[in-house]
Amino acid sequence: MTKQQRLDELKAEIIAENICPELAAHATQLVMGDGNPDADIVFIGEAPGKQEDEQGLPFVGTAGKFLNEMLAQAGMTRSDVYITNIVKYRPPNNRDPEPEEKRQFWPYLLRQLEIIEPKAVVTLGRHSGAAFIPDLHISRDHGRARWVKYHEATFLVIPLYHPAAALYNGGLRQTLIDDFCRVPELIEKYVRPGSLSEG
Ligand code: URA
Repeated sequence: MTKQQRLDELKAEIIAENICPELAAHATQLVMGDGNPDADIVFIGEAPGKQEDEQGLPFVGTAGKFLNEMLAQAGMTRSDVYITNIVKYRPPNNRDPEPEEKRQFWPYLLRQLEIIEPKAVVTLGRHSGAAFIPDLHISRDHGRARWVKYHEATFLVIPLYHPAAALYNGGLRQTLIDDFCRVPELIEKYVRPGSLSEG
């Protein structure tokens, strides 16, 4: 079975298990992910917004355009990476995802990562960042890679600001762009070719 087929099965399982039924009831559809399931880098945002909910794809609205621009500046396209969110249904009126919603989706996010086996996980914003790094202080930790152990798995996690937060804030915007462009070099530095767990 290909990785895409396994991801499709996982998506069907989330629907069948009736995860976050209140969110599901308000949402148009579940937004699983986009990009290359064989990617070295997985970007993880917060939750779908209006356009993501309508199109069934993550980061296709304003924040997504900014994400695409930064990928281009870093020499990548969406088909070089995989993009997803911690919460996979749009919260009503784009409110912040609740702790219980993040908790319910967390095991599925881990399984998504188990299938993709990326070299690095890049979190976008505090919701996905704090899920991997509980003591995250984004103003202190942004752009710094660290190894995170979670049960059997070890991830190289690089927490970044959320594109929507940085988009209209000149200082943060440049910081995010600078951090973003350093992602490939950070991965190169931390991960030996072919190794998932050596730092
Ligand atoms: N913001 C997110 O965190 N995720 C999306 O998919 C879109 C906007």
